[in-house]
Amino acid sequence: MASDNNTILEVIDLKQYFPIRAGFMQKIVGYVKAVDGVSFSLRENETLGIRGESGCGKTTTGRAILRLYDPSGGEVWYRTLAGERVNLATIEKKQMMPLRREVRMIFQDPFSSLNPRMTVKDIIGEPLAIHKVAKGRESDDKVAALMRKVGLNPAYMRRYPHEFSGGQRQRIAWRAPSRSAPG
Ligand SMILES: Nc1ncnc2c1ncn2[C@@H]1O[C@H](COP(=O)(O)OP(=O)(O)OP(=O)(O)O)[C@@H](O)[C@H]1O
Ligand SMILES: [Mg+2]
Repeated sequence: MASDNNTILEVIDLKQYFPIRAGFMQKIVGYVKAVDGVSFSLRENETLGIRGESGCGKTTTGRAILRLYDPSGGEVWYRTLAGERVNLATIEKKQMMPLRREVRMIFQDPFSSLNPRMTVKDIIGEPLAIHKVAKGRESDDKVAALMRKVGLNPAYMRRYPHEFSGGQRQRIAWRAPSRSAPG
């Protein structure tokens, strides 16, 4: 879509990669390409919907536009209320501050009940321990089974809530408070 005078946001080839770290030295062994080359433009009085399966990068796109992350690549041209055209992807943090009154995000899970300092393994394992359903190795196996059941990869059980998508988090939260012994 070509930009014109009515364009308020033009996103060009936006990329947001997250490093994957492993081992004792926490070396970068690869990248999660959460957003990989997204382009669109938005005109005044237009509503744009972005849809796609859980984990495809919708929220990350929003966060990258808002500069809650430093984008790995691409441009985010925004026309301010004052009429300036600025690239939010590279603008200085100080200049970004006043723009936060103009562009904002409504979060998907603002009342998230997940403890950000606990891994998913501990979050899902906690009720199992409290209710003496399982502990140790056995608990890990049950956590893995629960994760698989809701379509989460058990290999990610040592990750923290912020490393999952909103939809994935909803599924973690859905399992976490369960009182019944898992099947
Ligand atoms: N901080 C992060 N570190 C590592 N990986 C991340 C991070 N944030 C998101 N991801 C990964 O990037 C991908 C995109 O996540 P994102 O939250 O943008 O998905 P989404 O499209 O909003 O999904 P949903 O519909 O479930 O909300 C997912 O695979 C997620 O696991
Ligand atoms: Mg999301």
